[in-house]
Amino acid sequence: MDSLEKFERDVLDRLATLQGADEVEALRKEALGKASPLAVALKGMRQLPAAERPAAGQRIHDVRARLSARLDLQRQRALEPLGSGRRTKAAVSAVDVSLPGRRLPPGAAHPLRLIEEEVVDCLVPLGFEIASGRLIEHEWYNFEALNMGAAHPARDMHDTFFVRPDVVLRTHTSSVQIRTMKGQPPPVRILAPGLVFRRDEVDATHMPAFHQIEGLWVDEHATFADLKGVLRTLLVRLFGAQTAVRFRPSYFPFTEPSCEVDVGCDACGGKPQSQCRICRGSGWLEVLGAGMVHPAVLQAVGYDVESVQGFAFGLGLDRLAMLRWGIDDIRALYDNDLRFLRRTAGLGI
Ligand code: FA5
Repeated sequence: MDSLEKFERDVLDRLATLQGADEVEALRKEALGKASPLAVALKGMRQLPAAERPAAGQRIHDVRARLSARLDLQRQRALEPLGSGRRTKAAVSAVDVSLPGRRLPPGAAHPLRLIEEEVVDCLVPLGFEIASGRLIEHEWYNFEALNMGAAHPARDMHDTFFVRPDVVLRTHTSSVQIRTMKGQPPPVRILAPGLVFRRDEVDATHMPAFHQIEGLWVDEHATFADLKGVLRTLLVRLFGAQTAVRFRPSYFPFTEPSCEVDVGCDACGGKPQSQCRICRGSGWLEVLGAGMVHPAVLQAVGYDVESVQGFAFGLGLDRLAMLRWGIDDIRALYDNDLRFLRRTAGLGI
C-alpha cells in the first residue's frame, strides 16, 4: 500500500468514529488543508519527471475528491434533524463522567449505508459532488417544477403523504435537482442521497420510506451516451462485468427520452416458473429511472435551454442492496435483526 492510499484509509477509519458535524469539519481541515499529505504530495510533483506528473496529479486529485465527498456525506448525516450531531446541553450535562466505561461490541455499517458509500465512491471520480435537499418539501419542487402540474396523471404514481395541500414528504430525490439548479448556474454535476416517502403497499420490494440517490449532470454537451456510460460503470462496479443490465424505454414527465434500468436477478437466474420473491420470476429487478432532462425543467429553474442540456437518474438504494447481498425481502433492511445485519456486514460474530 503506498502512502497516499494509507493516508486515505486512515482518514476514512477516523471518519467512521466521528459523530458531530464539528468533528467532521475539524478532520476536513486536517485532511484537506495546507499541511495535509495531499498538499505535500502536490508540492512534491515538481521533483517528478515531466512524463510522470499527469498520472501523479490525477491520483492526488482522485484521493482528494473521494475524501471530500465522504466528508460531505458524513457532515450531511450529522446535520440531519434526527442525527446524533445535535446534542442538547441538557443531554450532555446528564452524562456522569465518573462512571466506569462499558465495553462496546464491535459495530459495522448498515447495508444501506455501505451501498450508498459504494455508489458515491464510484461516481465521485467522474466529477459528481454531494448535494442535499429537504425531506419535507414544497410541492413546487417535488412536482410542479419537474413538469408535473397539479392535474398531471403521473402524480398518481407517487402515492403521496401530504403535510398540507402544498407541502409533501418528498416522493423522490428529484426535488434536489430543482433546489440545486435554482441555486447555481450551470454546469451542474451532483449526487443527492436520501430518504423518500410514498404511500406504497409494503411487500418484498416496496417500503413506504425508502432510499434513493439522485444524479444530475447538466452542461453544454451531456448526452444520453454519457448517461449510459455513467450507469454502466456504476452497475459493473457494483455487480461485476458478468451481470445482465437492461435499459428499457419508459416515461417520466421530467425527462425525455426516459428509460428504466433493470439488473438481472441472481437469486433465481430468472426462471419463469420460479417463485422468486425478488423478481417474481421475471429474471429482472428494476433499480433506477433515468433520462435526458426535459427542457421544461431547465426552463423552470431559469436555465437557457438553447445552451445547456443534461441527464438525470434516480437509483433505488434498497433494491441495489437487495441485489448486492441476495436479500429476498426489503423488510429485512428495516427489521434490525442483528443476525441478518452481522451476516451482511461480514462480521462473522
Ligand atoms: C423516480 O422516483 C424518479 N424520480 C427517478 C428518476 C430520476 C427518473 C431522474 C428520471 C430522472 P421511480 O418511481 O421509478 O422513479 O423510482 C426510482 C427507483 O426507486 C425504482 O427504480 C426503485 O428501485 C425504487 N423504488 C420505487 N418505489 C419503491 C418502494 N416503494 N420501495 C423501495 N424502492 C422503491
